[in-house]
Amino acid sequence: MAKINPLIFDPANAFVTPHGITQAQFDGLKDKLVACRAEVLFQDAQLDEKQPLDAQFLEMPERILDAYQSDRENSELGRILKTASRLGEMVDKVVVLGIGGSYMGPRALMEACCHPYHNELGRDQRGGKPRLYFEGNNVDNDWSQALLDFLEIDSKRGAPDTPESKWAIVVISKSGGTLETAASFRQFYTKLKSVVGEEHLADYVVPVTGETGKLASLADAIGCKDRYLVPDGVGGRFSVFSAVGLLPAAILGIDVVKLLESASAMNTHFRTAEMGHNVVMDYVAVNHLLEQKGVSTRVLSVWSKSLESAGFWYDQLLAESLGKNEKGALPLTCLNSRDLHSRAQQHQEGARDKVMNNVILDSWRSDPLAIGESKWDQDELNSLAEKTLPQIMDAALNGTNLAYKEDGRPTTDLHMYAANEEGLGQLFQMLMLATVLEGRLIGINPYGQPGVEKYKKYMNKLLREDVAS
Ligand code: PA5
Repeated sequence: MAKINPLIFDPANAFVTPHGITQAQFDGLKDKLVACRAEVLFQDAQLDEKQPLDAQFLEMPERILDAYQSDRENSELGRILKTASRLGEMVDKVVVLGIGGSYMGPRALMEACCHPYHNELGRDQRGGKPRLYFEGNNVDNDWSQALLDFLEIDSKRGAPDTPESKWAIVVISKSGGTLETAASFRQFYTKLKSVVGEEHLADYVVPVTGETGKLASLADAIGCKDRYLVPDGVGGRFSVFSAVGLLPAAILGIDVVKLLESASAMNTHFRTAEMGHNVVMDYVAVNHLLEQKGVSTRVLSVWSKSLESAGFWYDQLLAESLGKNEKGALPLTCLNSRDLHSRAQQHQEGARDKVMNNVILDSWRSDPLAIGESKWDQDELNSLAEKTLPQIMDAALNGTNLAYKEDGRPTTDLHMYAANEEGLGQLFQMLMLATVLEGRLIGINPYGQPGVEKYKKYMNKLLREDVAS
């Protein structure tokens, strides 16, 4: 395995007086967190009655990689790569249908690891990889109709029987019964059927779902040959390293092996590093201690547009996992420097209920872009002509941290070498481990989302009553 640039967590600015935490409090949590880590890793044989459900996300990266090493052709990852290249040869657009944990991860991977204008690039510039569109993550009439229209218009631009004139569907739903995704699937496969014909539909539809359920049955009826499982024991929002995230990522040409190796490196780090040097434990310790002092809003402050969707993925992970029994911090994703012009006033002078967890990129994909000289200096930028966007971003970050520190407002810095497979593989696994570890610490089972089931019950009741009347 090639060397992985590790994530680095620096919590120094959480130790601010009078509103931050103290070193003694941090050190005092060590034994408890070490015990919780053992519980998360099932190292304690006495824990039978506390074994949480759905904890199998933990070693999933290793399981998938091991199977791939021993059988490249027939392992799950081998098959995913084959499906991805088959779709890449057949079509130029793939519509990914899914919601929640069946949507946020693939979207975050695309935004972090692909060219920001991937879908606007020509097929050659995309290396022959399809464009990816997401639906089924809402029931917004105009957006669904717009995508259906777009698929028709755009496909007519390609010559008949070329990939440019064709599109496919990847439909993702662990339960197979989520209404948003199911309704969307029916609309999109109906459209696709009218284009490719019922007899070919199965070649253009790849379901990712549980062993049984409505979507599994529908996949049988359509005759889908390529299909993937969301394994039992892996919860929706913990499924990004299953086919849920890997298939869309592979379609885009993202290096899924590197992604899994990076997640696995985070597992090793979590198991072995001492508190004080363990990004998972340190992140949990700081955020938990702050929460005990009334800091109930946990801001994931991302300093690259490429990471905003990763922030939204974490919003779901934290909210659905720990927002139970009237406990759990409120997650909030901020994208900077954009949100310095919207939320920063409140963060600087509003209620003292927030910690800003910065996620910082240490390198950019492209060369630094300087402001540049101009004969018109009405904007007075010639004195800064040599300054580059990364330098301005650094100044914005450091300036913001200083301003918060001066006012005793806690921040932490999580450094990621780059927005790529290596960074995202570690970040996703780190945050999933942190969420489960914190669940242990505060006595909350992080799996399941009973609160979400309530709205679904009423929504279905209202719809069915309407049909009956
Ligand atoms: O974390 C979860 O399990 C949920 O948020 C699900 O991901 C979400 O409700 C979608 O469910 P499904 O994949 O069953 O369609």
